[in-house]
Amino acid sequence: MLTTDDQQALLAWYDHHQRDLPWRRTRDPWSILLSEVLLQQTQVTRGLVYWRRMVETFPTVASMSRASVDAVLKAWEGAGYYSRARRLHALSQRVMLTKDKDGFNGELPGTYAELLTLPGIGPYTAAAVASIAFGQPVACVDGNIRRVMARHTAQTEPTAKDVQDWADAALQIHRPGDWNQALMELGATVCTPRRVRCEACPLVPSCRGRAAPERYPTAKKQRKIDVELTVVVELASDGYPVLSQRPMSGMFAGLWGPQYAEGPVEHHPSTAFCGTLRHELSHRRFTVHVHRRTNADCSTGTPPDSVALSALDIKVLELATVPTDKSR
Ligand code: ADE
Repeated sequence: MLTTDDQQALLAWYDHHQRDLPWRRTRDPWSILLSEVLLQQTQVTRGLVYWRRMVETFPTVASMSRASVDAVLKAWEGAGYYSRARRLHALSQRVMLTKDKDGFNGELPGTYAELLTLPGIGPYTAAAVASIAFGQPVACVDGNIRRVMARHTAQTEPTAKDVQDWADAALQIHRPGDWNQALMELGATVCTPRRVRCEACPLVPSCRGRAAPERYPTAKKQRKIDVELTVVVELASDGYPVLSQRPMSGMFAGLWGPQYAEGPVEHHPSTAFCGTLRHELSHRRFTVHVHRRTNADCSTGTPPDSVALSALDIKVLELATVPTDKSR
């Protein structure tokens, strides 16, 4: 339990020490929603780059609803978790529908319950947007808040319900958006997974885990699956690679790229080995053997800038278009 003194100390700390982030300078729900969707998957410094690109490309929910899903994927390029971009597009179209068609007449809804009905919006994002953009008294829970809670209460494995109950009880209903962000900010900048800065923490006087903060919560073992792939990048006579759009489900759904294969590449006289590269996603570690071949039967390829590519395919295409026999 946090005391009233703790709550006041944390809000005062947040008022002084919060990072100056552009989505904290706006009350625009759409900009805030974009920031919260992005921040679920990326650190603030990287998130800033993608947030700026998304807000510039789609300044309003209406502007995204009029765009193609391909244009949304292009703006999201490099950010990962591309299904989130596709669901964001679906969300924008749903919001633009009239109320009788289950939409919201072009305005993002302001309550937790309504936000939760939108594509891609789960409990975390609904609570973050409801509280930050609309001042609704709902407590959100993310990995940072879970860590702050586990340490403050000295619990190694709090359940999701334990954390939600703690966050609900702690919520400062007169400043719910600032309160939620203060807890997340503390977890992101002070009560960090490693190199904890207890000396800078406003909650330290009542923290039960302060003698050994790294013990809480127990770290989950993250085992990544190794995947080995071969790709032959075909170059058309105009010099551009031959790319195709991936199916709308599965890995990198809806993005463009060259064709991958598991196992060794078939020998072809005009196939040149370009190198091997590695690339990590949250649960997978790829080793990709990159080859290229000129396809004289194909006159026009696809300019890579014109389509949305995964970060892996950007690397593959770079490697396939530099001199051969390089390894990374
Ligand atoms: N993580 C996700 N959203 C955040 C926010 N608004 N402030 C701090 N950390 C966050």
